[in-house]
Amino acid sequence: MDGTLGISEVDQKEFDALIADALTGLTAPQKSLSPKWLYDHHGSALFEQITNLPEYYPTRTEAGILRNHAAALSGLVPHDGALVELGSGASIKTRTLLDVGSHFGTYVPIDISRDFLMQTADDLQNRYPALKIAPLVADFSAPVTMPDPLAQIPKVGFFPGSTIGNLTPERAKALLAGVRAWDGITAFIVGMDMVKDTKELVAAYDDAQGVTAKFIKNILVRLNREAGANFDTEAFRYQASWDSELARIDMHLVSAHDQHIRLAGHTIAFQAEEAIHISAARKYTPESVRELAQSTGWDVAIRYTDADARFSVVVLTPCM
Ligand code: TRP
Repeated sequence: MDGTLGISEVDQKEFDALIADALTGLTAPQKSLSPKWLYDHHGSALFEQITNLPEYYPTRTEAGILRNHAAALSGLVPHDGALVELGSGASIKTRTLLDVGSHFGTYVPIDISRDFLMQTADDLQNRYPALKIAPLVADFSAPVTMPDPLAQIPKVGFFPGSTIGNLTPERAKALLAGVRAWDGITAFIVGMDMVKDTKELVAAYDDAQGVTAKFIKNILVRLNREAGANFDTEAFRYQASWDSELARIDMHLVSAHDQHIRLAGHTIAFQAEEAIHISAARKYTPESVRELAQSTGWDVAIRYTDADARFSVVVLTPCM
């Protein structure tokens, strides 16, 4: 982020980006909306609810792995070094590392949801008074550069939640290569969800209570509120499906009938059953983890997993 911009200019920039993005996505032959717009304040809160759902195993499985290996993982951070987290949200599972990371100098939570990030940074500062908390508002789907005092500090990257799987393969590679290029980077800890039984995978993204559907539909609510669109959220149904070829869950909003939507002076036509692609969640195998690492300048130093091998916490080290 450009530190010289005032809040309102930042808001204006984000507003313009939301509209431009939505128009590009919704006028393409395969309609899509970028998942990064899911995470406004309300969306971020809904996402925290998802992480507690009975069907949504990734968060608790990853948290268990982090707890089991907290000492080894926090030990990766050099003395007085920084832990830099991409897409920190409420930083709940990061506490597992911060609790045993008394040697950390700085924690840098990076998130696109400014309000949520600042709130979290405040809470963390109270919890860890000796730790320097340096929040950074940024979109990690584009290259993230460290602002100056942070650039020099030795650092370990942290990208939990299998969020890497929500990026396109090109963006996932660009992100790994980008973090590899940070000054002083000594390791990158990445949470990656593994391929497993299809039913279990689909259920994790289509829960019985409908929280995920609400989270996804929040993107339409947001377009209505922030871009003056007129989506009827009842006229779209949420759908999650497994693509075995691409090893990913796809999340769609499907139009219930033929309809027209107004958005920023444009009319967008939907046919019955036409889908808007919102997000994908790639799942990995030990082989695909290795391939992805090797193609971006990293070695898989360690891959920690749970007893059922559902999820992996991968420690990447720079490939020499
Ligand atoms: N990183 C999470 C995942 O892939 C994000 C996520 C969970 C998600 N549920 C979602 C993204 C539903 C969009 C919609 O598991």
